[in-house]
Amino acid sequence: MSFFKNKRDEDTIADIEIDSVVKMVDVSYVYKGPPPLQALYEVSLNIRKAEHVAIVGPSGSGKSTFLNLVGLLDRPSSGAIYIDNIDTKDLQEKERSALRARKIGFVFQAFHLLSYKSALENVMLAQLYIKTPRAKREKDAIEALEKVGLAKRAYALPGELSGGERQRVAMARAIVNRPSLILCDEPTGNLDSVTADMILDILDELSQSGLTLLVITHSSQVAARAKRSLSFSDGRLLG
Ligand SMILES: Nc1ncnc2c1ncn2[C@@H]1O[C@H](COP(=O)(O)OP(=O)(O)O)[C@@H](O)[C@H]1O
Ligand SMILES: [Mg+2]
Repeated sequence: MSFFKNKRDEDTIADIEIDSVVKMVDVSYVYKGPPPLQALYEVSLNIRKAEHVAIVGPSGSGKSTFLNLVGLLDRPSSGAIYIDNIDTKDLQEKERSALRARKIGFVFQAFHLLSYKSALENVMLAQLYIKTPRAKREKDAIEALEKVGLAKRAYALPGELSGGERQRVAMARAIVNRPSLILCDEPTGNLDSVTADMILDILDELSQSGLTLLVITHSSQVAARAKRSLSFSDGRLLG
């Protein structure tokens, strides 16, 4: 439990909420600029294991800023963020990266695959940051591709795959390290509605297997799949 090393035991125990995967307490975020721009105002929430949450709100309302904070890509200007009950404020940059690699998978609208690497190699890139034994890496990566129904295209380059297949590679990359949390920013934004449905079916399966999903979306098709919605407006979380 090295992540707790800077905290007194009694503080740690008091902070713990059973099954909490993401907890935020009064999180605000200001882009430094110039000029400075406050993108989030005192956001507090708790998201539990296996919840499937849609993040909705108009463009510019703070959704991506929120997801970047949950994903430990940015640090809040004030407030606290706990991932699996770990207070991320106490962590060094290296510990944050390790926590991110082990516990969080990302899926973006634009796939973000390396074009000169095969589907399998793209998935295996996520393993660089964790200590998977070399012999196990390829097996795990193939297994992740199987989960998204793409093992037979393991050696294809992204350019040889359809948009839906590319997003499935990105999803395999997001789940290969068996994270507890998957963060998606408009995962079906570049896909037609039939292909989007297939991606959403995979997300549903992941959620049923115990993964926690946070999905930013403009689409009512996508939001309808989630059991809970968080609605942002001008940097504030509405009720
Ligand atoms: N890198 C940045 N620097 C300055 N302001 C930014 C930056 N990224 C986003 N913003 C601003 O922060 C606010 C929230 O943006 P964002 O979180 O991207 O909203 P959303 O994802 O809901 O469209 C917007 O006003 C946006 O212009
Ligand atoms: Mg955004």
